[in-house]
Amino acid sequence: MSARIGVVGSNMVDLVTYIDRMPAAGETLAAPSFSMGHGGKGANQAVAAARLGGEVLLVSRVGDDLFGGGTIRNLRDIGIDVTHVRAVPGAQSGVAPIFVEPSGENRILIVKGANEHLLPADVDAAAADLATCGLILLQLEIPLETVYHVIDWAAARGIPVLLNPAPAVPELDVSRILGATFLAPNQTELGILSGLPAETREQAEAAARTLVARGVRQVIVTLGAEGALLVTAEGPARHVPAVPVRPVDTSGAGDAFLGAFAQHYASHGDTLAAMRWGALYAADSITRQGTQKAFAGEAEFAAFREALGGG
Ligand code: RIB
Repeated sequence: MSARIGVVGSNMVDLVTYIDRMPAAGETLAAPSFSMGHGGKGANQAVAAARLGGEVLLVSRVGDDLFGGGTIRNLRDIGIDVTHVRAVPGAQSGVAPIFVEPSGENRILIVKGANEHLLPADVDAAAADLATCGLILLQLEIPLETVYHVIDWAAARGIPVLLNPAPAVPELDVSRILGATFLAPNQTELGILSGLPAETREQAEAAARTLVARGVRQVIVTLGAEGALLVTAEGPARHVPAVPVRPVDTSGAGDAFLGAFAQHYASHGDTLAAMRWGALYAADSITRQGTQKAFAGEAEFAAFREALGGG
């Protein structure tokens, strides 16, 4: 299997406001600080994998505005192959206003902008390069038709796909994602997809099992401070505990987990080991503010593991 990772997904400019609390309707409230950064679930996962030394190809669309060029430069500087990251004439770049509470909890709005223009034909145009990848990552900040197209295309070629159904969209047709090797929702997304509560680990396992019963091959549920769960048709669920840290900003933690998972899995093919790697990397990321800018490089991540005593 090739260790190259393909990401077909979004990019956004994150507008992060650190708040004491959300204002009530009609209320104006001063907030302590603000920070802008590169984000978007697709780009975040690509950046996490690349920061850990993964070879990454991103297929994405930016606006032809102030943000577009900066987004492409940022991705290129990190070492991501941006051959298929293009500007859409007349479109605005995606943006994400994010609100982070003192506990580190986040609330995110997205305005997809140019990401809505990433179409199946764009995937076909990138097909020769995507065919060199050993794993393809997808999220739901691009049109659903594009997501289904990538899954069908990759399944026909035997290329594993990880679908992160984020943000959850109730109209996602589960019968059209069965070609994916992994489905990786968080608890909110799992609840929406399954129609069942998924707040506790037990509920999450039960909800994931209903998806497996519908033909989903492997469900990786990210559980925040509780770690992650792997649910498949064979045997009991496997739990990977979270690494305890004091959270500063949890925005992008799921993307850190999945980007690191992808980098490890594409190199070693060991699902549980890749989940442990992802949990470590996500824990490190939430000790810093921001999304991509909180993602450690290899040396910084090694220092974090060393400090935990894990080497
Ligand atoms: O998962 C975090 C990301 O969600 C942010 O970077 C934001 O851009 C939204 O896409």
